[in-house]
Amino acid sequence: MSKVATVEIEGKKIDLPLVVGTENEIALDITKLRGETGAITLDPGYKNTGSCESAITFLDGEKGILRYRGYSIEELAEKADFLEVAYLLIFGELPTETQLQKFNTDILDQSIVNEDMKTVLKGFPESAHPMGVLSSLTSALTAFNPKSVNVDSEEDMYKAIVKILAKFPVLAAWTLRKKNNQNLFNKDTNIGYVESLLKMMFQDDNKKNYKLNKTVVNALDKLLILHADHEQNCSTSTVRIVGSSHAGLFASISAGVSALWGPLHGGANQAVIEMLEEIKADGGDTSKFIAKAKDKDDPFRLMGFGHRVYKNFDPRAKIIKKAADEVLGQLGVEDPILEIAKGLEKAALEDQYFIDRKLYPNVDFYSGIIYRAMGIPTEMFTVMFAVGRLPGWIAQWREMRLRKEPIGRPRQVYIGETHRKFKDIANR
Ligand code: SDX
Repeated sequence: MSKVATVEIEGKKIDLPLVVGTENEIALDITKLRGETGAITLDPGYKNTGSCESAITFLDGEKGILRYRGYSIEELAEKADFLEVAYLLIFGELPTETQLQKFNTDILDQSIVNEDMKTVLKGFPESAHPMGVLSSLTSALTAFNPKSVNVDSEEDMYKAIVKILAKFPVLAAWTLRKKNNQNLFNKDTNIGYVESLLKMMFQDDNKKNYKLNKTVVNALDKLLILHADHEQNCSTSTVRIVGSSHAGLFASISAGVSALWGPLHGGANQAVIEMLEEIKADGGDTSKFIAKAKDKDDPFRLMGFGHRVYKNFDPRAKIIKKAADEVLGQLGVEDPILEIAKGLEKAALEDQYFIDRKLYPNVDFYSGIIYRAMGIPTEMFTVMFAVGRLPGWIAQWREMRLRKEPIGRPRQVYIGETHRKFKDIANR
């Protein structure tokens, strides 16, 4: 196959190189397009535009395939734990026993959060959404770690990576404790990464009465793995473009938290539960809400449905749906909205509107049901998504910097007023 594509613009032909990836994806390299033709491409939402070459995550939306560094999400969700997957995403290989132990120890050594960060947190009203607080606290970490990462130093980069992996879950737990007006604790360093997150979130003020539940720990570990990376999604692209100006890792992650918050992205897991609650309160008639979702005059969308890339089942949604049944069963939780969710999914998948547009449940459709069964408040669902996505953001930021990618600065097509003379106010 010729490795070029020929483009003709107003009679001028140019050959543009084709880039072919290891999974045989093809891209048109347009780096010389404007220089040779004066034309640019236009692609609102970057639906057809690749921003980079990456070796971290591969997904095939048509086939419903998702792999981290070549390992299938199904295998990783079943056989690995979250810190192992974090190491794999960031450094490219699954860790040996020794490497994993050192990684865990180095993270624990960095898990104390500066006391003054509590003063920052105290400034927020209890009504503040945890995602807004988490984004601010993550950016505030820079104030206590002012030295920006020297990406040319492996050691420097490693230190920054373990620091953010250590402190981010503490800040995430603090956003919940702030809402509940509870004392702020640092990590219990004698237990695992997921265990200490749950304990910081739920232990009472005298550090007693919180019993770790193996089912909850395993379910959360699996959910964090399923959320760990997803190639160039909105929040990851945000982390990359902020980092491309050589802003620090913590500032870039803070921007990613803000992007993830949106209900079209990570905020959908909260919006799904609110939608299911609304359907339940309305008597459980899913057909009414399906009709609303199809009505172009109605802004209502079926939250947790559809995806920019998956035009088949989101493989994560399949795993989470199965886990929801298991976890609720093991916890003895009867949640009527799980049945409403299944009924809504069935009705939508049989409806021509959804079939024609290849709209399937995505990662956010069932995850909230599990978080709810674990006792996690709805407003914290996207915070849990952020804790899961953190290793992916770190991996993508590190890859972008190590590959010395240029600062992100897209072009535009101007559609405003052409040149006109200034008129003083008396003549307007
Ligand atoms: C995540 O990118 C990632 O990888 C993200 C993520 C990750 O891991 O990082 O997977 C996590 O963000 C999952 C998505 C969570 N968001 C939601 O569940 C919100 C509901 N879904 C939609 O808003 C929508 O499906 C998006 C935002 C997810 C994708 O939107 P696109 O790709 O821009 O598609 P579109 O809006 O152009 O929709 C195409 C058509 C339109 O109809 P027509 O104009 O062709 O008639 O499908 C319709 C849309 O109206 N449509 C929906 C719908 N989603 C799309 N109609 C009703 N309900 C929906 N949910």
